[in-house]
Parts: sequence; C-alpha cells; structure tokens
Amino acid sequence: MKRRDFLKFLGFFSIGFFGFLGLQNLAYLSRPAPKKIFLSKSDLEKIKTLYLGEDFILVKKEIGYLSFSRRCPHLGCKLNFDPERELIVCPCHQSKFTLQGKFLEGPAKKDLRKIPSKLKDEGLEVELT
Ligand code: FES
Repeated sequence: MKRRDFLKFLGFFSIGFFGFLGLQNLAYLSRPAPKKIFLSKSDLEKIKTLYLGEDFILVKKEIGYLSFSRRCPHLGCKLNFDPERELIVCPCHQSKFTLQGKFLEGPAKKDLRKIPSKLKDEGLEVELT
C-alpha cells in the first residue's frame, strides 16, 4: 500500500471511528434523566399493603419496601392490585404476580421489573428509569 493510500485509509477510519464514538455519546446524553418520586413518612404510614403510583408499585414489607414498574412485562399495560387475592393483576391479558413481583400465570412469563428506591430520614425516594 502506498503512503498516500494508507493516509487516506487512516483518515476515513478515524472519521468513522470518532464519528461512531460521538453518536454513542449523543445517544447516551439524549436519554431522559431518571424521574424521582418522593413519598413522605406520613404518605408511607398510610400504606397498608401496597401503593399504586402512576408508574410504579410500592409493596410494604416487614422490613422496608419493594418497588416495581407498574408496566406489565408482556405488552406494557398498567397493572392493578387485587386486594382479595393479594395479587398484582394485569387487566389486559390477566397475567398475575405475587406481591414480591414473581410471575404466577398468564402470557407475561417474566417477573415484574424492580426499580430502585431509597429509604431516607424524611421518606422514600423511588427512581423511575
Ligand atoms: S399486557 Fe399484561 S398480560 Fe398482556
């Protein structure tokens, strides 16, 4: 390979390589920031078993809380709580989940997606990703 051809190749390779890296960073930067929801201590005291937020489910445990996405892992319908059977139920195709987020039956075939939550002195912060 001639020196001139090699330099052309190197130039095109560099443009492609650094362009690719730049696009990766743009994709990373364009991701929406996680949304944080805060429940105060008085909000938490009102929860008997479970709290249905707009986008999340918070389950009260003996020690702490479990938080899940409220989106069904099948096709994304918004999940509900069946207090009689103490199950989380999808209204669209009837998938059922335990209060620990474990899949029981239906077409979803996956457990509920856990989402991070932090217990703080003033209450609980749920981070929707
Ligand atoms: S969307 Fe929930 S079971 Fe289909």
